[in-house]
Amino acid sequence: MPLLSIRIIAGLFLLLGFAGSIYGADGPLAPTDLRCEYLSNPLGIDVQKPRFSWVLQHTERAQAQTGYQVLVAGQAEGLGRDTGDVWDSGKVDSNDSIQAVYAGKPLASGKTYYWKVRYWDTAGDASPYSAAAQFETGLLAGENWKGQWIEGNMLRKEVTLDGKVVRARAYVTALGYYELRINGEKVGRNVLDPAWTTYPKRVLYTTYDITRRLRSGKNAVGAMLGGGWATLGKRFFSPDVGPYYQAPTLLLELNIELEGGKTIRVVSDGSWKAAQGPIVIDSVYDGEVYDARREMPGWDQPGFDDSSWSAAKSVEGSKGTLSAQMMPPIRVVDSMVPRSIANPKPGVFVFDMGQNMSGWVQLRAHGPAGTQVMLRFAELVYPDGMINRETIGQAKSRDIYTLNGEGEETYEPRFTYHGFRYVEVTGYPGTPSLDSLRGRVVHTAVGMVGSFVASKQILNDIQRLIHWSQLTNLFSIPTDCDQRNERQGWMGDAQATAEEAMMNFDMAAFYTNFIRDIRDAQFPDGQLPDTVPRKYGGVPGDLGWETAYPLLCWYMWQQYGDRRILEENYDALKKYVEFLRSHAQGNVYRLHWEGDWVELAHTPGDYIGDVWYYYDVSLFSRMAQVLGKADEAASYAQLAGEIKDTLNHTYFDANTANYANGTQTANAMALFLDLVPKDHRDALVRNLTDDIVYAHNTHLTTGFIGVKFLMPLLTALGRSDLAYDLAVQTTYPSWGYMVKRGATTLWELWQEKTGPAMNSQDHIMFGSVGAWFYNALGGINLSPDSVGYQHIRIAPQIVEDLNWAGASVDTIRGTVSSSWTHSPGIITLEVTVPVNSDAQVVIPTEEQMTDVVIREGDRVVWENGRYVSGDPGVKAGTQDGRLVVFQVGSGHYSFRLTGEE
Ligand code: BGC
Repeated sequence: MPLLSIRIIAGLFLLLGFAGSIYGADGPLAPTDLRCEYLSNPLGIDVQKPRFSWVLQHTERAQAQTGYQVLVAGQAEGLGRDTGDVWDSGKVDSNDSIQAVYAGKPLASGKTYYWKVRYWDTAGDASPYSAAAQFETGLLAGENWKGQWIEGNMLRKEVTLDGKVVRARAYVTALGYYELRINGEKVGRNVLDPAWTTYPKRVLYTTYDITRRLRSGKNAVGAMLGGGWATLGKRFFSPDVGPYYQAPTLLLELNIELEGGKTIRVVSDGSWKAAQGPIVIDSVYDGEVYDARREMPGWDQPGFDDSSWSAAKSVEGSKGTLSAQMMPPIRVVDSMVPRSIANPKPGVFVFDMGQNMSGWVQLRAHGPAGTQVMLRFAELVYPDGMINRETIGQAKSRDIYTLNGEGEETYEPRFTYHGFRYVEVTGYPGTPSLDSLRGRVVHTAVGMVGSFVASKQILNDIQRLIHWSQLTNLFSIPTDCDQRNERQGWMGDAQATAEEAMMNFDMAAFYTNFIRDIRDAQFPDGQLPDTVPRKYGGVPGDLGWETAYPLLCWYMWQQYGDRRILEENYDALKKYVEFLRSHAQGNVYRLHWEGDWVELAHTPGDYIGDVWYYYDVSLFSRMAQVLGKADEAASYAQLAGEIKDTLNHTYFDANTANYANGTQTANAMALFLDLVPKDHRDALVRNLTDDIVYAHNTHLTTGFIGVKFLMPLLTALGRSDLAYDLAVQTTYPSWGYMVKRGATTLWELWQEKTGPAMNSQDHIMFGSVGAWFYNALGGINLSPDSVGYQHIRIAPQIVEDLNWAGASVDTIRGTVSSSWTHSPGIITLEVTVPVNSDAQVVIPTEEQMTDVVIREGDRVVWENGRYVSGDPGVKAGTQDGRLVVFQVGSGHYSFRLTGEE
């Protein structure tokens, strides 16, 4: 199906160009997909110089942007007249269509701005202006919040407005979770808001447009609060990272403009009323206990009698920075109909959702008041059909609902989430049916940007597991798992899977926030914890975990061309690298403990630690280079060189051509990072591949650290065939084994374990192979030294027994796609390159092939071993061994290679 959608997209692309010429709109078309700080039409950003990006469209091939003009206006009408009273960039001679920095008048707080953009193409022709987009500032720095943090389970306040509301905004956050309600309705679709941050340092607020929710006359504003990560603690974390706060609190500000210009500000303070509502207990890990008999109908409506409510207590709250939440929120993204119900014991019903998922269920029941329905969540069932909760650790993961007896009741929890496939229902009044429950899929609602499909079904199955595991592990931070009492921002897991996540989902704003979270969690001496926000793990963290900081910054630079991330984090990264240096004696770093996590063959942690040390210092040197800090780039490159020498001296055995103890992880890391002395490289490669093929019958022995290096390395070594064999392996240990054993998300361990130990059924860390699917089998790569997909390398690995594969990624510059088919003597390759980008298209010929002819569309572009010019967009072609390499400009291309075997 996804292949079909690639074709549909490609078709639309052509159609667009075609329609363009029918209607006389030849040439550059209006830019689309306008983004501000990676978000489309964001509400509430607190950046003084936001960055814009747009996607270019053109009816012709090989087109780039030679100039652009951005208009920003304070009123939509102004923009309609093509004037930008806030910023008119004029024609900027630049090919920047991403990360273009705002350079207009200082932005005001709480204001909506309208913007659009046009561009000039290669011939110097201007496109029409794009449709208008908008962004709105939140409460910018310097704007003091007037509200106070107030405590309470349910909070309310009535506001009388003596006029028509023309514009109203709510700025709201909580230490814990909130649900904001106005005049009887929930505001917005966010759940589990705000994002989990290191609250004492930084709290994120959300901006809502509430104009249409308020009315002239009486209004009621209400909030329900849950403890979330703010109060979770004692039972789970060591005292120094115990609960941040004792009780959840709310901070809110409503700015209301009435007709005639009057403005009214409503803030959270001691004038609010508080009461204990129906949520009796709430806990991220343990679930929610809800007593519907305690509901107070009308509490969030004006006119409710709150005389029995007490005054809300104002408390100190957080003294940290209040920042705008500038990333996709957590939302209920889907509803699932249960697949089946079992009744393993009298009164015990076990619903199977058919998919391991994150979120909760919506319950429907009808029964007498006081009936208690218990929902217990599990990833597995025992052979007798009862739920197996041995994988969820200390988390109670249950919701208890007490009926109020008033007709058909519907309940879903607000301030918890579970990782589960099965739901055990007990205490249900009567016999439940499939309609008694709906699965509610909840996670950070990142958009999907990628698709990958191949003719080998096991790859598609693995891709599906990766999708689910990745999404169910996005809860405002990248988590390790979603079910047991962890769900932590384990940084090793985050770095291992970031490249995969960036190919599949729109992660730019998400990781921008997480990188800030990392900075917030950094200690004054530069060291970093294992988990961010810090709750679990060691201090300092293991290097493979700490390294998420430089690596995520680097991936943001590579994938999205985000130089600002490098600039903003440079000093803190340097502090981190200096921390490592100050603890490395003789270039040897010994503060580590995790090594190659969940490995099958043990690789010495000392060695892995030193390799990370080398990697971090080299990365930092490259960042210094990008930022034009030549001296620092050189001095860190020199340090990296010294660490490499020490590593080789300490761990490389020239006689056996192995690093450390010669495990797959040890040798793969050394090869990937190019540590290996030239004349030993071949022998080392042989050791590695022999170990996979002969010693382990084409199986992995790595943990999740090693495998991240191994797969792309094999492709770089020209051994995609072997990487492929590992990818489609279905016996233990392999991804395919998980599929065959019925997994619907990736396991934490290669082993199938279901007992009481570390064995989550939903970990994303082995999902790094997802990046390899796109890069190797799909063939979508950045050109070396290019960032943000300006220069692309399409190099599909056409491996034995795969007849076709296709991948598509909506990159920051637009859609890049590549799909191929292979049958004896024929290879076809469809490629899409966005406007303002170009690509190297690498088509492999078969070993024994002669008389190779390559056509693009109906023109011959390669014949008699030579490039044939004349096809628009295909600028050059060369041969590199068995590979034919074309240089192409933007556009859609259909290559077809034929030859005699
Ligand atoms: C987590 C892992 C994590 C590891 C590191 C585990 O408990 O679930 O994913 O990386 O600990 O120690």
